[in-house]
Amino acid sequence: MSVTSVNPANHSTNEYYLTRQSQMESNVRSYPRKLPLAIAKALGCWVTDVEGTEYLDCLAGAGTLALGHNHPAVVQSIQDTLASGLPLHTLDLTTPLKDAFTEALLSHMPGGQEEYCLQFCGPTGADGTEAAIKLAKTYTGRSSVISFSGGYHGMTHGSLAMTGNLSAKNAVNGLMPGVQFMPYPHEYRCPLGIGGEAGVDALTYYFENFIEDVESGVTKPAAVILEAIQGEGGVVTAPIKWLKKIREVTEKHNIVLILDEVQAGFARSGKMFAFEHAGIEPDVIVMSKAVGGGLPLAVLAIKRKFDAWQPAGHTGTFRGNQLAMGTGLVVLKTIKEQNLAQNAQERGEFLQAELKKLAVEFPCIGNVRGRGLMIGIEIVDERQEKDRLGAYPADSQLAAAVQAACFDNKLLLEKGGRGGTVIRLLCPLIITQEECVEVIARFKKAVAEALVAVRGA
Ligand SMILES: Cc1ncc(COP(=O)(O)O)c(C=O)c1O
Repeated sequence: MSVTSVNPANHSTNEYYLTRQSQMESNVRSYPRKLPLAIAKALGCWVTDVEGTEYLDCLAGAGTLALGHNHPAVVQSIQDTLASGLPLHTLDLTTPLKDAFTEALLSHMPGGQEEYCLQFCGPTGADGTEAAIKLAKTYTGRSSVISFSGGYHGMTHGSLAMTGNLSAKNAVNGLMPGVQFMPYPHEYRCPLGIGGEAGVDALTYYFENFIEDVESGVTKPAAVILEAIQGEGGVVTAPIKWLKKIREVTEKHNIVLILDEVQAGFARSGKMFAFEHAGIEPDVIVMSKAVGGGLPLAVLAIKRKFDAWQPAGHTGTFRGNQLAMGTGLVVLKTIKEQNLAQNAQERGEFLQAELKKLAVEFPCIGNVRGRGLMIGIEIVDERQEKDRLGAYPADSQLAAAVQAACFDNKLLLEKGGRGGTVIRLLCPLIITQEECVEVIARFKKAVAEALVAVRGA
């Protein structure tokens, strides 16, 4: 296929770039199918396309852009690092900038430097989860892993094996063996069909019993890996008592507990890390996305006792991105100085309260959930019968139409969850109250339009 020739007259349209993208890039493209724009520039919570149209961005690089787009302090840091003459990357060799970043990041771990050390990985979340699992296997000498339905840990052979969603898995044979899935509590769609506190209690009991049952059929795993708030899985928050029990049981049986904070970390949930809501201390914490301030970086925090690596036991060329360490340092400072955890908490509470009001007006909004600025809105078909827990069946078609109508109303957001039925808000942590009001106004209009488009009413 020949690529559309460059005609300067066309350069100002989204269609021009999208057509060329579809001709030049693989079928694997995902976001452009749902958010069909070509971006010209971006600032804060706002993105401008090549036609000059402005969008309110509640996707924010899938939660990567904690400080929004092109935050002045982030841009300044990039300029300062370039001007300093540092190499752009240094493998895992150290620099004064890396030293400062490492110290600052460690200060956010429970117990700080005394308790944890850092490992810089290849720069993706998937490489971080891969490294964490390899470390757990190295430390314990065991081979299996427990992961949870609805979890998302990346797209490589190992991380995909630990991911719940079947659509990407079904296409690829021979993923990492030895992953045992267990049910993750879900307030709205309890996997045991029990619901409420009783559902959480049953799942909490089940986990402990499963690990301790000598007839479970599953040998003791090297690790348990989980997100304290499942993001891609549809914004599902782990109950505190369940998380505490998982910590207690894994500690008792010397199973490495890995918390994947790639998406929920860095103040998004209203605390620096989502596991902090349960007051637990993981053995390994996986960080990516916001840890590099918008530039590629992944880091593990490892409880010192579990640092079983031999030198070069897990390597990777791009472990020393100096620009990302500089911008990561700025993110840490800004989160602290501007108390962005509190902003995430307060703006999140406002958004959830407004969305719950909308759910009264639009019963197709079946459930609003999440913590801080990690919010999920489950779209249902309220014309059908409720299930045994009182929830209507999810409505994928309407959810897709809501996302499309949001795009038409210049609001960028993503879907997730089973069947893509959960609309997800991952706003930058710097979002203002006025911008939140705007998000709600645009979302409300979009839901009304999507209902007309799909149901004619
Ligand atoms: C919780 C979680 N873990 C791991 C990953 C994988 O990160 P990456 O896409 O950088 O490989 C993601 C990505 O969305 C994620 O949300």
